[in-house]
Amino acid sequence: MDRYAVFGNPIAHSKSPMIHRLFAEQTGQALTYEAILAPLDDFAGAARTFFRDGRGANVTVPFKEDAYRLADRLSERARRAGAVNTLMKLEDGSLLGDTSDGAGLVNDLNNAGVELTGRRILLLGAGGAVRGVIESLLERRPAALAIANRTPEKAQALAQIFADLGEVAAFGFDQLSEPVDVIINGTSASLTGALPPIPASLIQAGHTLCYDMMYGREPTAFNRWAEAQGAGRTLDGLGMLVEQAAESFALWRGVRPDGSVVLAELRRGLAITA
Ligand SMILES: NC(=O)c1ccc[n+]([C@@H]2O[C@H](COP(=O)([O-])OP(=O)(O)OC[C@H]3O[C@@H](n4cnc5c(N)ncnc54)[C@H](OP(=O)(O)O)[C@@H]3O)[C@@H](O)[C@H]2O)c1
Repeated sequence: MDRYAVFGNPIAHSKSPMIHRLFAEQTGQALTYEAILAPLDDFAGAARTFFRDGRGANVTVPFKEDAYRLADRLSERARRAGAVNTLMKLEDGSLLGDTSDGAGLVNDLNNAGVELTGRRILLLGAGGAVRGVIESLLERRPAALAIANRTPEKAQALAQIFADLGEVAAFGFDQLSEPVDVIINGTSASLTGALPPIPASLIQAGHTLCYDMMYGREPTAFNRWAEAQGAGRTLDGLGMLVEQAAESFALWRGVRPDGSVVLAELRRGLAITA
C-alpha cells in the first residue's frame, strides 16, 4: 500500500492520520498514513528515511521551513509562502514541495458560504500562517486586504512580498479603527487564551465575520470576544485543517475528497471528548 505520513514535533495529538484515513475510505484509495515524530534537529534525516518508500507527507510545526529547504522543486504558492506543508515524491525520485494552507482556508470559508470577493478583509498576525494564506485571499479579489501585527514591521515585510499580486495594507494594532467585513485571526495568541489588542470598533454588529485559525473543544478566546462585540458570525480553524488536508490528498492521489463529511465527524469527536 502507498505510504503517507505527517511530520511534526510534537505530533501525538495530530488529527491528520484520522482525516486521511477517512478520505481514503471515502474515495476508495488504498494507502497508509502515519504520524512521525521527527527530531527537532534532524527533520531532513527523518524525511529522507521515510521517502525511501514513502509517497507523500504533510509537514507541521516546527518543520515547514525545513521542508521548504528540503524540497527539490517548489510550487509557486509554496515559494511565495516561504514554507512547505505538503511533500510529494515525483516519478524521477525528486521531492515536490507545496503549501495547501491558503487553499484550505479559502475553501473552508467558501464551504461556509462566506463571500470574500469585494469584501474588506483584515488579517491579524504576520507569522507563517498568515503568510501562507495571503496569496489565496488576494486571488478572491477582496475590496481591501490589510494585515495587522504586534510587530508592525513584520506586517510591512509581508505586504512587500505580495505587492505584485495585489494591494496589501500593513498596520500595527493601535492603528486600526474602521469596521471591516471579515477578520481572520492568524496570531498564536489564542494558544494561551490571549487576545490580540484590537478595538471593538472593527466589528460591525450583526455583520462582521470573525474567523480564528485556531480551534478547540470550546470557542477560542478570540471568537468569544468577537461574539461579545456582536459579530455577525464566528468560525474556527477546524475546517481549514480538513480542507488543507483535502488539498494535499488531491495533489497526491488525483481525487478530491469531500471535506464536509470529515469535518462533521471531527466535530462529533471533539464534542464526545469534551
Ligand atoms: N487551522 C489550521 O489549519 C491552521 C494552520 C496553520 C496555523 N494555524 C494556527 O495559526 C496560528 C499562528 O500560527 P503561525 O504558524 O503563524 O505562528 P507564528 O509563525 O509563530 O506567528 C505567530 C504570530 O502571532 C503573533 N502573536 C503571538 N502572540 C501574540 C499575542 N499575545 N498578541 C498578539 N499577537 C501575538 C506574533 O506576533 P509577533 O510577530 O509580534 O511576534 C506572530 O504574528 C496558531 O494558532 C496555529 O495553530 C492553524
